[in-house]
Amino acid sequence: MSFTQKLQELNERKRQSEAGGGEERLAKQHAAGKLTARERIELLLDPGSFVELDQFVTHRCTDFEMDKQKFLGDGVVTGYGTVNGRTIFLFSQDFTVFGGSLSGAHATKICKVMDLALKAGAPVVGLNDSGGARIQEGVESLGGYAEIFWRNTQASGVVPQLSVVLGPCAGGAVYSPAITDFIFMVDQSSYMFVTGPDVIKTVTHEDVTKEALGGAETHAEKSGVTHFVRPSETECLKTVRELLAYLPSNNLDTAPRSDSKDPLDRPCVEIAKVVPDSPNKPYDMLGIIRDVVDDGQFLEVHGGYAKNLVVGFARLGGKSVGIVGNQPNHLAGCLDIDASVKGARFVRFCDSFNIPLVTFVDVPGFLPGTQQEYGGIIKHGAKLLYAFAEATVPKLTVITRKAYGGAYDVMASKHIRADFNFAYPTAEIAVMGPEGAINILYRKEIAAAEKAGKLAEERTRLADLYRKTFANPYKAAELGYIDEVIVPEETRRRLITGLRTLEGKRERGPSRKHGNIPL
Ligand code: HXC
Repeated sequence: MSFTQKLQELNERKRQSEAGGGEERLAKQHAAGKLTARERIELLLDPGSFVELDQFVTHRCTDFEMDKQKFLGDGVVTGYGTVNGRTIFLFSQDFTVFGGSLSGAHATKICKVMDLALKAGAPVVGLNDSGGARIQEGVESLGGYAEIFWRNTQASGVVPQLSVVLGPCAGGAVYSPAITDFIFMVDQSSYMFVTGPDVIKTVTHEDVTKEALGGAETHAEKSGVTHFVRPSETECLKTVRELLAYLPSNNLDTAPRSDSKDPLDRPCVEIAKVVPDSPNKPYDMLGIIRDVVDDGQFLEVHGGYAKNLVVGFARLGGKSVGIVGNQPNHLAGCLDIDASVKGARFVRFCDSFNIPLVTFVDVPGFLPGTQQEYGGIIKHGAKLLYAFAEATVPKLTVITRKAYGGAYDVMASKHIRADFNFAYPTAEIAVMGPEGAINILYRKEIAAAEKAGKLAEERTRLADLYRKTFANPYKAAELGYIDEVIVPEETRRRLITGLRTLEGKRERGPSRKHGNIPL
């Protein structure tokens, strides 16, 4: 064979591999409103940067006449490329080949890019669109999944792992995305569940649609399984790029700096308008966050879930930070089970990847009620406490208004080793709010006032007395628990200076295999 013929053979093989499951199936994929595996890669990566690996891999199954049905690449496109100029490794399942189902060979391809990513210290992005285990391969496929799960676990906290679910992801297959750091879904076309609607109908007699059971909205708002939902694949992949820009490539790296024109000492003039005078009025913590961070840019994570706690990424002075904030607009900003779990996972991600934490506190306490107690608020609330306490990245805290009870301790207080703790003059730091406190402290006085028909006046007097003594930042400042009471306008400048001061922070806990976070 001449060199030209050999080149032709190579090109022909490449063409076959790139054709996936063939024109008809590709058209079906488009008709379902979905992009193909390769179109997705083009949207995700910088133009022209994709390098494909294992393009000619085929499955080895001979049962069910599978030896007569082989597709080059075997239903998954793998390789590496760049996002914003930085390397990532990826796999993109091709639903047009055996429904993107996972064969032994398909799994081996995914494992290869995961191994390379770990060696190179680069993130892994998985684009999932699969009917699950390749039924014809039986246990070989199950073994393939487990090899992926094991690698997901090894890579956890070493390189960022992102899962984008762009079609079905069912059965045990869900556990790879579940171990990764962030899950993305597309409204109306992604779904994830351990057991599908048919099995549920047989076992529990419940009638539920695919969408209601495991669609994007369900996982964004009810289960909290997914962190991001976008209306289209294009928007979704854009958000993946946006998120990657905040993250370091691995746990030994620092996040990339970006050049912002936003002045470092810009006064935050909006905050005074956002925080109301009345301690009982709700407000939007996002108003404070956006006023403080570079260019008002905040990428909210888990925005649809546990809305009483806001978490997400932003930059301060060009440097990535993870932001955690109580949200007074929802459940008055109380901590509950869902918010604790959401916050803990976010804090641990940031700590794993050297992203400093900035915490805005306005928390009246833990949400009371039997539902919370029976649901285990004790162990779930402890997750957030544990996560903040173990985090060794720079931790800066701003108390905007309430910081009551155990929730004061939990929300990156000085005692669990925050580095700089600020409070606004509007801060109220105490064991509990005035209304609850006076009921206990002045039981006799209140009973007497009730008898005398002067209950309202007496309650107001006692609450004022309590507020003057405890519901302010000065007791905490006297004790050094607050480093500085700041004017809200200075927030941005103070935080940026604090972050720069802490750039060389080194902190190590005692040597141990790993801690035992209350799971
Ligand atoms: C082999 C599969 C497949 C699978 C789909 N296909 N899933 N082939 N193994 N798991 C094939 C179909 O035979 C079909 O081939 C093509 O992919 C497209 O599938 P359709 O059914 O035509 O597509 P659609 O109507 O869109 O339905 C998609 C689907 C459905 C909902 C995913 O295919 C489905 O229910 N598949 C089985 C899902 C499942 O039960 N998987 C195992 C889950 S348990 P042709 O040639 O006709 O085009 C599991 C365990 C993991 O995954 C364990 C990890 C520990």
